Amino acid sequence: MRADDDFRSITTERLLLRRSVAADAETISEYRSDPAVHAMQGWDRTDPDGVRAEIEEMEDRKPGDPGGWVQFTVEARDGGILGDVGLSPADGEAGVIKVGYTIDPQFQSRGYATEAVRALVDYAFTTLDADIVRAYAGAENTPSIRVMEKVGMRFMERFQGSDGEETWTGVRYEVTSSD
Ligand SMILES: CC(C)(COP(=O)(O)OP(=O)(O)OC[C@H]1O[C@@H](n2cnc3c(N)ncnc32)[C@H](O)[C@@H]1OP(=O)(O)O)[C@@H](O)C(=O)NCCC(=O)NCCS
Repeated sequence: MRADDDFRSITTERLLLRRSVAADAETISEYRSDPAVHAMQGWDRTDPDGVRAEIEEMEDRKPGDPGGWVQFTVEARDGGILGDVGLSPADGEAGVIKVGYTIDPQFQSRGYATEAVRALVDYAFTTLDADIVRAYAGAENTPSIRVMEKVGMRFMERFQGSDGEETWTGVRYEVTSSD
């Protein structure tokens, strides 16, 4: 895998994916704080300051760099934030990159996550030279699993996770560059 020194943006038919900036924090915080969204993700903080700090922490990391996530804000091409997606190389597994995604509930079920994640998968293979793109979700998270299936990912495993006393079942899906 290689790092992208020259990232500007990714455009699709309806969307623009650009690096998240601190000014996005208020909007991102609003939909991340929605209980239905928060329940599906592992964020510690969803308040504007917490989201802003997370974006600032990623600022110097290039897409494909190891050590954490790079987040992209998903905008409609005619304006307005719809959600965010991210990429993070897997620790200790050369060639494997994880993808994450969230769409504001008011814009869900219009195919935006599928369109954004499909573009990100393509970017990971063609620009970052990744071998495998991987996604995780809770086993009950049907919309997320549908997105994985629609972008061509295959079911790899079901596993048990735990957060303190709470246990949950997760799934791992992957697509390879030769698929
Ligand atoms: C997962 C998520 C990003 C999907 O965003 P989206 O823009 O609505 O996704 P799309 O419109 O591209 O596709 C959603 C698919 O799920 C389906 N879906 C939505 N709600 C559903 C439900 N309750 N039960 C079954 N399927 C459902 C849609 O019908 C669609 O599938 P289809 O095209 O076969 O009809 C969004 O639901 C979200 O942000 N959830 C909270 C955060 C999250 O779970 N992120 C992923 C963590 S791994």
